[in-house]
Amino acid sequence: MKLTQSFIQENKENFLNELLELLKIPSISADAKYTGDVSNAAEQVANYLTKAGADKIEICKTVGHPIVYGEKIIDPSLPTVLVYGHYDVQPADPLELWTSPAFEPVIKKTEIHPEGAIFARGSCDDKGQMFMHLKAFEAMMKTNELPCNVKFMIEGEEEIGSTNLAIFVKENHERLKADIILVSDTGMLSNDTPSITTGLRGLSYVEVEVTGPNRDLHSGLYGGCVANPINVLTKMIASLHDEDNHITIPGFYDDVVELSAEERAEMAKAPFSAEAYNKALDMEDVYGEKGYSTPERGAIRPTLDVNGIWGGYTGEGAKTVIPSKAYAKISMRLVPNQTPDEITALFQNHFESIAPKGIRVKVNPHHGGFPVVTPIDSIGYEAASKAYETTFGKKPIPVRSGGSIPIIAMFEKELGLKTVMMGFGLDSDAIHSPNEHFGLFNFYKGIETIPYFFKNFTELMK
Ligand code: BES
Ligand code: MN
Ligand code: MN
Repeated sequence: MKLTQSFIQENKENFLNELLELLKIPSISADAKYTGDVSNAAEQVANYLTKAGADKIEICKTVGHPIVYGEKIIDPSLPTVLVYGHYDVQPADPLELWTSPAFEPVIKKTEIHPEGAIFARGSCDDKGQMFMHLKAFEAMMKTNELPCNVKFMIEGEEEIGSTNLAIFVKENHERLKADIILVSDTGMLSNDTPSITTGLRGLSYVEVEVTGPNRDLHSGLYGGCVANPINVLTKMIASLHDEDNHITIPGFYDDVVELSAEERAEMAKAPFSAEAYNKALDMEDVYGEKGYSTPERGAIRPTLDVNGIWGGYTGEGAKTVIPSKAYAKISMRLVPNQTPDEITALFQNHFESIAPKGIRVKVNPHHGGFPVVTPIDSIGYEAASKAYETTFGKKPIPVRSGGSIPIIAMFEKELGLKTVMMGFGLDSDAIHSPNEHFGLFNFYKGIETIPYFFKNFTELMK
């Protein structure tokens, strides 16, 4: 891969400038105001695929945002790598907390990224990481060193649940035929501790609506006499964890696979500093389920968290009112072998059952997703591990992540394909938050490492 690597070194600046163009497009999938921008981003991805040398490029329309497809089949008898990524991004708000505008990318140095990091919404999740694949592919193409076939499937709805990609996959089994799926949409431990993501949590997401009286009431005339939906909702939510921070929903843990003592000991070998963790988040201490370490709480244990809560008067000054309704959005992160439908049903039954008389509860399920665990004794893992060893000079550590990419479990079910997750972001890169960034070191390391995966995978498949 000598020529590929020198092509990358010679084109670093171009690669960066091209990524900055993509980052300027506010492709926010959740907000209909940005539908045109999402399409523009799809078009730009397709253009970059063309430039890189892909064939059969198509911007596949869906009832939602489009999926960009492209491929390079150099020899049908060689293995095929299917690259998945997403070009849509999360909304950028709260805008006032960004130190520079979310869609005006700039390079700034940070303590963790002394070489500089790209600050922009989507820089790490996932435009920057998806883009590493386009450029690694371009480098292999331009130098005639592409060792196997490649297919690209870059979607625009990951951040809103990948509903239309699920349909696309079901309808395109033949076109998506491959030997492995390769994804860079996760993270690694640190810039000097490379890791490969070997698991993702699943997700069950619900919105609850709690109704008390049929209208807002004067809190003096009615206070003390009716169930206040906010008081009740917060009490109900508080009861969902016990004093050890275990979740109290009956049956919630029934299908949870407990790790063996050996597996937990293996996990504990990954470096983790509670002190650095607390410092980075400006907290005195961590918090969580009794009996588990912070890395365990964040990866191999299920959770229940309120993501938003509202109701009543929140404007300026005081308004003495008992609201008629209160709401909350609640996410549950799932681990093997929990399933989103079952957990949602358990939540719904339990939440309705704990509502006091005088309160009506509605639970509306949102999108969900299955947890994933990928093997570490596979050709795909070995190919990735060796690639990191080449570029980082260190063997990567397998790490299960706490985030979710619901479509990955679906790929396995529909296409029968395993996924290798080569993520290059850091937890401190602030994905989904103000000031999201992606280290230049990480961006370039990703581009350098990916071609070795292709080479190793092709050789190991022989
Ligand atoms: N790329 C993230 C998921 C992720 C990040 C996994 C870091 C592991 C490490 C993805 O874009 C994401 O944000 N997923 C959502 C779920 C989706 C259904 C909105 C999530 O995890 O909240
Ligand atoms: Mn992502
Ligand atoms: Mn995301």
